[in-house]
Amino acid sequence: MSNPSLLILPGDGIGPEVMAEVRKIITWFGDKRGITFDVSEDLVGGCAYDAHGVPLTDETMAKAQEVDAVLLGAVGGPKYDSLDFSVKPERGLLRLRKEMDLFSNLRPAQCFDALADFSSLKKNVVAGLDIMIIRELTSGVYFGEPRGIIREGNERVGINTQRYTESEIARVARSAFEMARKRSNKVCSMEKANVMESGILWREVVQEIHDAEYPDVELSHMYADAGAMQLTRWPKQFDVIVTDNLFGDLLSDLAAMLTGSLGMLPSASLGAPMANGRPKALYEPVHGSAPDIAGQEKANPCACILSFAMALRYSFDLGDEATRLEAAVEKVLADGVRTADLLNEEGVTPATTSQMGDAVVAALDASL
Ligand code: IPM
Ligand code: MG
Repeated sequence: MSNPSLLILPGDGIGPEVMAEVRKIITWFGDKRGITFDVSEDLVGGCAYDAHGVPLTDETMAKAQEVDAVLLGAVGGPKYDSLDFSVKPERGLLRLRKEMDLFSNLRPAQCFDALADFSSLKKNVVAGLDIMIIRELTSGVYFGEPRGIIREGNERVGINTQRYTESEIARVARSAFEMARKRSNKVCSMEKANVMESGILWREVVQEIHDAEYPDVELSHMYADAGAMQLTRWPKQFDVIVTDNLFGDLLSDLAAMLTGSLGMLPSASLGAPMANGRPKALYEPVHGSAPDIAGQEKANPCACILSFAMALRYSFDLGDEATRLEAAVEKVLADGVRTADLLNEEGVTPATTSQMGDAVVAALDASL
């Protein structure tokens, strides 16, 4: 049997630096666990624009469709701010999501014990927090037509369309209920059914799928604005949250910050099952390209490393190895190794990106 395949797209800013640390982890799994991947690497985002004039070439897109999983670093940077909208680095990422049909975006927000003091909320509110936001990723106002900037009389009008079909809502709802069954069996669905028809339909369809297929799961509904408030008031009331593309974008950033460490959070974007039964998948850290610290060995590679752990679990059926890697990261934190984003004391020298990666490798060694 051939090795599982992985396409690595480091992207821009700190993407290449954090990906270099993931490379060490991949090498470790080959050397010490006999788990070998066919790894290929390519460009996405601003670096792809620099090389080819587009943020994602058709060739790279085709490769992404063929592999078992894609691991992406980050895209974007001030250098590309003035580019035309159609070739901005973000368009590369959005094209991957859309064409691979990655409709279910899993964004865990987990507060690591060693880092509970970093949250802007009180420690007792966030300690032990472990929630999963499932964001619909291929539809809604991000992709709805009509869109554009048009002229009406003597002024311009910006237009975007929030649009959801029943089947789009149903499939992400199923993904949330399935996830809930593996966790605490509880889903909260968030929309704005009080002002939007798409929200009314969202609520109806989620309820119907629940009643017909997942009556054992506890389901509640919340308006997304109230959801944001509840997330900051008492986040531990939630387990799985399912929501649309735009609300999911906002709520997942909010949830990420609750944990106090954006540099720690991974994500998975999953589509329909492929021939091998595993979902089409793209994994990426929740953080962005952080151009202000790029190239300085300051970035925290943990979010990208933990994204690879999600790949082990969801694409390669290696849940135990994923748990091993997650435990290694937790051990490193517990041992006090900190990149700059995880330090608020003066006079302490932070670990560099590669020191953090090396510490995770050492913790993996210790796990054997
Ligand atoms: C995210 C990001 C993206 C989004 C950007 C980079 C296009 O904010 O993944 O949350 O808005 O979806
Ligand atoms: Mg976002």
